[in-house]
Amino acid sequence: MKDQWNDVDEYLKRTVVGPDDALEQAVRATADAGMPAIEVTAAQGKLLMLLAQIQGARKVLEIGTLGGFSTIWMARGIPGDGRIVSCEFEPRHAEVALANLERAGLSDKVDIRVGAALDTLPTLAGEAPFDLFFIDADKANNPNYLEWAVKLSRPGSVIVLDNVVRGGSIRDGAVAEDASETGGAAGGAGAGSVEDEDIRGTREALELLGSHPRLDATAIQTVGAKGWDGFAIAVVR
Ligand code: DHB
Ligand code: MG
Repeated sequence: MKDQWNDVDEYLKRTVVGPDDALEQAVRATADAGMPAIEVTAAQGKLLMLLAQIQGARKVLEIGTLGGFSTIWMARGIPGDGRIVSCEFEPRHAEVALANLERAGLSDKVDIRVGAALDTLPTLAGEAPFDLFFIDADKANNPNYLEWAVKLSRPGSVIVLDNVVRGGSIRDGAVAEDASETGGAAGGAGAGSVEDEDIRGTREALELLGSHPRLDATAIQTVGAKGWDGFAIAVVR
């Protein structure tokens, strides 16, 4: 299956998304720097660009820059005087991203803020509201990032959250949990691991997306070069 998903993603990139030297270079530079190859695919990146265009976004807030791949796509979707603030925890990642943005001719539109996003986000009130948010950082903090996005938004802002399915792991333990709630065997993932925290954070974020009085949201499962995953998208009321 994975081979077919990869093949179809390559085909869609070739056929629909189009060739892209700047992005190929960015992917290579990011891999050469020893950073994880977990950037959005070309097809997903272009969706972010199109969402920025559809939304008419001028101000974008990204949480999790990595090598700046999604940043490049969104920068292409905003007007010349548009601006992206991108929060990145790792100084080394921020350096590589800045070089990638410079090569793509887009660094003037992007302001990378290095540090823990939970420290950076409270400093951004003066730059709010943002029109488009892309949340793609440590998954344990997804609910916190989502709350911050709502705080820094306006009615009509769009929020996109990456990696909401993670190979189905957001449902790990769910059957056992349901059983334990009805008096069956206790179960669920053992507490404490990074993966458990990621799953907890993403589940809580999905629950928040479904229940938040200011959000209309959906979540879509995807397959492709990044495996089986998904994204959520919300509009702020
Ligand atoms: C992975 C993928 C992502 O898009 C991400 O943000 C984090 C991790 C992964 O495949 O491990
Ligand atoms: Mg991601």
